[in-house]
Amino acid sequence: MMRTHESGTLGPDDIGSSVVVCGWIASRRDHGGVLFVDVRDSSGVVQVVIDPESPGGAGAHRLRSEYVVRITGDVRARPDGTVNPALPTGSVEIAASEVEVLAESEPPPFPLDGRAADVDEGLRLKHRYLDLRRPSLQRNLRMRAKVNAALRRSMDEQRFVEVETPMLIASTPEGARDFVVPSRLHPGEFYALPQSPQLFKQLLMVGGLERYFQIARCLRDEDLRADRQFEFMQYDMEMSFAGAEDVQAVVTESVGAAVEAVTGVRPDAFSRMTWQDAMDRYGSDKPDIRFGLEIVDLGAVFASTGFNAFKAEAVRGVRVTGRADMGRNKRDALIDRAKALGAKGLVSFKLEGGALAGPGLNHLTDDEQASLISALGAVDGDLVLIVAGAPRMVSEVLGALRLDLGRPPVNEGGLHFCWIDDFPLFEGLSDDGRPIPAHHPFTMPHPDDLELLATAEGEDLLKVRSLSYDLVLNGWELGSGSVRIHTPDVQRQIFTLLGISDETASERFGFLLEAFRYGAPPHAGFAFGTDRLTALLAGEENIREVIAFPKTQSGADPLTGAPTPIDPVQLRDLGLQLKPPK
Ligand code: AMO
Repeated sequence: MMRTHESGTLGPDDIGSSVVVCGWIASRRDHGGVLFVDVRDSSGVVQVVIDPESPGGAGAHRLRSEYVVRITGDVRARPDGTVNPALPTGSVEIAASEVEVLAESEPPPFPLDGRAADVDEGLRLKHRYLDLRRPSLQRNLRMRAKVNAALRRSMDEQRFVEVETPMLIASTPEGARDFVVPSRLHPGEFYALPQSPQLFKQLLMVGGLERYFQIARCLRDEDLRADRQFEFMQYDMEMSFAGAEDVQAVVTESVGAAVEAVTGVRPDAFSRMTWQDAMDRYGSDKPDIRFGLEIVDLGAVFASTGFNAFKAEAVRGVRVTGRADMGRNKRDALIDRAKALGAKGLVSFKLEGGALAGPGLNHLTDDEQASLISALGAVDGDLVLIVAGAPRMVSEVLGALRLDLGRPPVNEGGLHFCWIDDFPLFEGLSDDGRPIPAHHPFTMPHPDDLELLATAEGEDLLKVRSLSYDLVLNGWELGSGSVRIHTPDVQRQIFTLLGISDETASERFGFLLEAFRYGAPPHAGFAFGTDRLTALLAGEENIREVIAFPKTQSGADPLTGAPTPIDPVQLRDLGLQLKPPK
């Protein structure tokens, strides 16, 4: 037997036992003849005391950080005053009778016991196998596995069938760039790697599976950010004979089970609001509802104002609690930020001694001032910020300022899930005036807006709502889904609006449209990023911290060197010829 115990599991119950542990030297301290080493394995660390003068301790002086050792010894209580309550094994230590070096280590290129954030990202990822020895990454990857296991268990319990969909496919319309793979057997032709299993899961519904799920690898060639990697995982599901409420109930149950698996408790009931409410109250379609600073409509307060700055389609404000003492420089910085976000300006007043103060106040009547205070619920010591202009811009500017001023760190404030319903069907108009789908082109329009869809033109089309919904957690978009169009006539109507000709539609999605001609059940589905859920559960700002082998910000993998040039022979086999790089 290589070992009798795992280091991190030893405690007072083991005092007096003879044990054998294996692991890495996490640290070593030489205390005048006696050597203290911390031995780390995947369960934790334990302190080992070695007397180099003893027969078994000979050679212990050559032990260095990250050497792999096998220690035989007796567990004993630590002497009074040396107990370390911060460590699970902190009340005991092993008095070593034998020390065996299983593998030596070169000095690691960065310390493994310091803060990961202090080490260059490229260096960390080049030696990811060392970085992975950190307790934080060990914990995160274990948490990730727990999340996945709980999701699978929950979906199995809810009678969903796990189906793997292919990786080498034709393009999926999720709006990002595809990663493509050249075909050797079909020179000049390419597979796309899936941006999501979207089209296949809909085909599975036509195929009668009724309840599909997958923890699916998805690939998107888009700019990387804290919550985005090229490769990421989706909990992906689709249901037949079901609507938005059915899908949301299944997802709520699974997410609840995953949270419970990690934290031991179910999350609080998920909030719910419409997209319009989220935009009006939080200036964002992914509102962080861990804190207040809600946006208030001041249209009624300034309906007949004489203040030119407030003569606008929308006037809205937020009350920043207790920040009346904000200095001039900070307030100027807020104005600059508002302008950079598209506002003409930002008006701010402080409330002191029951009265407002600040530049521009003389343009407001006494009534307006009193109504403003009451509309915002402001009290002494508060700062109020007001933006006027086009409604969407006003909300977005205040939404951004709200986050700048109030957003708690990622690991504070608990988990606040929120369903956002009734997204618009289109997110804007292209240069040639065509609507751009907010989700994908298979999203069902809201039944109450079908007439509007049939008659509206231009900007009015943007008022058409859809049966699509997002799940938001602490200001992160966790996932999206929708009821799908399952009838050819509505699908054709949408394609026509989007300017997708019959020819293009049949070229790109012909297989799906054809499948729909053979009895497509009404169906709806959803997908969320499991990297994002795990990162938020782990209190991490960046999903890289919960992915074993992520890419750097520039999309490179310093460990393997990917992406790399390929062999000329491979190029020839694939029928490819490279242009010299620009
Ligand atoms: P959507 O494109 O909104 O919807 O993706 C769903 C969720 O996947 C996660 N995600 C990402 N995570 C990390 N890195 C990325 N680059 C990345 N891109 C997306 C997000 C996102 O909310 N087929 C539809 C779902 C459906 O309609 O059923 C889809 O893929 O958490």
